[in-house]
Amino acid sequence: MTTKDIRLKLEGIIDPSVNKTLKETDGIKHIGIDSEKDVAVLIITMEKKEPEAEKTLKREIAKAIKLDLGFKGVKIQLEERRVNESIVKTDTKFLIITSGKGGVGKSTVAANLAYHLKKNGKTVALLDADIYGSSLPRVLDMEEGYPQVNEKGKLIPRKVKDMEIMSTEFFVEGNKPVIWRGAMLHSMMNNFFYETAWDKNLDYMIIDAPPGTGDVALDLRQIIPDAKSIVVTTPHKTASHVAIKAGYASVKLKQEVLGVVENMAYYYNEYAKEKDYIFGEGGGQEVADNLEVKLLAQIPINRPKHNVGLYEEDEKAGQIFNDLAKKIIEIY
Ligand SMILES: Nc1ncnc2c1ncn2[C@@H]1O[C@H](COP(=O)(O)OP(=O)(O)OP(=O)(O)O)[C@@H](O)[C@H]1O
Ligand SMILES: [Mg+2]
Repeated sequence: MTTKDIRLKLEGIIDPSVNKTLKETDGIKHIGIDSEKDVAVLIITMEKKEPEAEKTLKREIAKAIKLDLGFKGVKIQLEERRVNESIVKTDTKFLIITSGKGGVGKSTVAANLAYHLKKNGKTVALLDADIYGSSLPRVLDMEEGYPQVNEKGKLIPRKVKDMEIMSTEFFVEGNKPVIWRGAMLHSMMNNFFYETAWDKNLDYMIIDAPPGTGDVALDLRQIIPDAKSIVVTTPHKTASHVAIKAGYASVKLKQEVLGVVENMAYYYNEYAKEKDYIFGEGGGQEVADNLEVKLLAQIPINRPKHNVGLYEEDEKAGQIFNDLAKKIIEIY
């Protein structure tokens, strides 16, 4: 059973508040499958939220999902049109970039993967959900500033290199303690998904997320149950050991781990034309083996030639990120 099957089924169901099918109202905002629990997770928009209509709609959906499609359960979030115009299209692919340790280049990988997906013709957004001092705006060389709000009161993502971006960093001033940020984060995640006017045709949303099974991970899991993840590590044992834990955390949350990216894998000496393994070797492969996934890329240690944090195709790291993007398009 796929989300397509569910969609087909739902499209015929009537939104009783306006007596039109969900296909006509474009009311199907998100379809996810929690395969472990055998539960379909749906976000449906109603034109008008009236108690009677709500009940009827929920009943019809539950009937379709459980009786007709055979799911054990269904979780339905009904939103009124006004609230929920902005969520990304249902076949947007969500990719969570995670790591065990800070400073291994998670944000660098998130930004560059997004950038090269974009270069390969995809519509891409970046979501920075890292509370522990998010570094995405820095990697992308963004000036401080708040997102604008559109005429409907929705947040407009900021844009860099033709990619949409939202960051926790846009909403905190200075160095607020992490605890305070944590408290804000739940509502921030909701704002990012439900109160933000993302491009309606997003192919990929790349999410720079803190590791583990913390609040953010759980919020993300609720909102996007079918997200997949990539684990970033360095070749160093200290990084790879915690990266394995991060990978297991993803697995526990039923996020399929697509593979591992080893960052700072070696220094590429342009003159000698050889690789220098400054931080040792094998960390990435070890993490991949442990999680039983592929090592997708090994990124060299080299400062970007043209930008603060983004690599272009005339540099080794840029070529590798471009290959990584192509691989991702192939497998996800
Ligand atoms: N392959 C690389 N070659 C050279 N410098 C790199 C590379 N990857 C990352 N860096 C640099 O290392 C630093 C940390 O990278 P980044 O901010 O991407 O890591 P992070 O894991 O997101 O860290 P944090 O935990 O602080 O968010 C940055 O200054 C970045 O420019
Ligand atoms: Mg970071």
